[in-house]
This record gives sequence, structure tokens and C-alpha cells, in this order.
Amino acid sequence: MSQELWSDVDGYTADLLVHEDQALRDAAAGSAAAGLPPIAVSPNQGKLLHLIARAMGARSILELGTLGGYSTIWLARALPPGGRLVTSELEPSYAQVAAENIERAGVADRVEQRVGPALESLRELAGERAGPFDFIFIDADKAGTPQYFEWALELSRAGSVIVTDNVVRGGALVDPENDDPGIEGMRRFHELLAAAPGATGTTIQTVGTKGYDGFTLALVAPRP
Ligand code: DHB
Ligand code: MG
Repeated sequence: MSQELWSDVDGYTADLLVHEDQALRDAAAGSAAAGLPPIAVSPNQGKLLHLIARAMGARSILELGTLGGYSTIWLARALPPGGRLVTSELEPSYAQVAAENIERAGVADRVEQRVGPALESLRELAGERAGPFDFIFIDADKAGTPQYFEWALELSRAGSVIVTDNVVRGGALVDPENDDPGIEGMRRFHELLAAAPGATGTTIQTVGTKGYDGFTLALVAPRP
């Protein structure tokens, strides 16, 4: 199996099912034109996030790692009227690109951007009693993921869903030779989830246009 085949299958299924509109295509193109790294979620993944948030009736969403706002737009479009999405981005130039993409997509009224380290945003949100968030998407720097997950638990409620991106990294997750801080972070994240009495989850490996990686979905609820 090859990257080319994975991309072809993403293309085939996205053409039939995903219905990326012009604003989403513009967000992807605008991010590329501005020189952002090509690491946004794929169309298929963006729609998956949208569907999870919609299926659970999420009214408040927290995203860590805005990048160019592509996933932000998918998630914001899952919100009902009056819903709110807070998204945090470390890099001001990325946040600026995201602001333009979010505006163009017509969801700026629902989206609140925070710029700076995710940990600072999380502390601020806790101080503001901004939670609980119904749906939290963790997609910022990978080494920070364990801390972001602990904060996500703080800022959630029973029934909240926490989705974490990039948890497999081509299988590096289980390569004992790999001590990259981002990979170590994903191992620690899995250990934290495993030990969390108030959450239960699973990891799904994915292939597609972004290669071989994975998502973890955690439900804030007692372990079965
Ligand atoms: C990287 C980050 C991501 O969030 C992603 O989905 C893929 C790659 C990265 O930093 O390499
Ligand atoms: Mg990611």
C-alpha cells in the first residue's frame, strides 16, 4: 500500500461525501499561499470532526492549534445558533491568516481567537470560568499534548469529547528507539488517558493524504 493510493482514496471519498465548499477551499489555498506548513487536517478529517461535534450537539468547542483555521471552520459550522468556539494559536502570523479565512467563511461571529502559548490560553480560560467545553480538539505542538489533555479534562464535563490529532506519527508511537519529544508526548498522553478515572478512549490509526497517523477520541465519563 502506498501514499498515492491513500491519497486517491481520500480524493474519491471526499469528492462523493465531504462537499468542501469554496470557503474551505479558499482557507486551504490561502494558508498555502501564506506559507503555512501543509499540516492542516484533510477534508475527510475536517468533516469527521464536524460530524462528531454535530452528532453530540456541541454548543461550545475548544481548539488548540488554529494554524490557518481550516479545522476551525469545519468545527464552527457544527455549532448551533449561539454556539461558541475558542481557538488558540502560538504563532501570530498563522492566527492572522486564520482570521482572514474564518471571516471569509462567515463564522467569525462564533469564533474567538487567542494568540500565544496554548498553556497560557488554557490558564486564562480556566480563570475566566469559560468551560466546560463540550468538544475539545487538541492539535497544537505535540510535546505539549499531555499537559493540554490534562487541561482539557479540567475544562470539560461528563459527556464532553476530546479528540487529539497526530497520535501515531507513522507508527513512531511504538518505536522504542524514537525519543523525539513530540513522540514521547504522545506516549505520555496515552498513559494519562489510560490512568484517568474520569475518561475513556480509543485510538484509531489513519491513512490518507496526510500519510499514516491517528486520532484518539476520549469521552469524559467513568471508565467502563
Ligand atoms: C504536524 C502537526 C500536525 O498537527 C499534523 O497534523 C501533522 C504534522 C507537524 O508538526 O509535523
Ligand atoms: Mg494535526
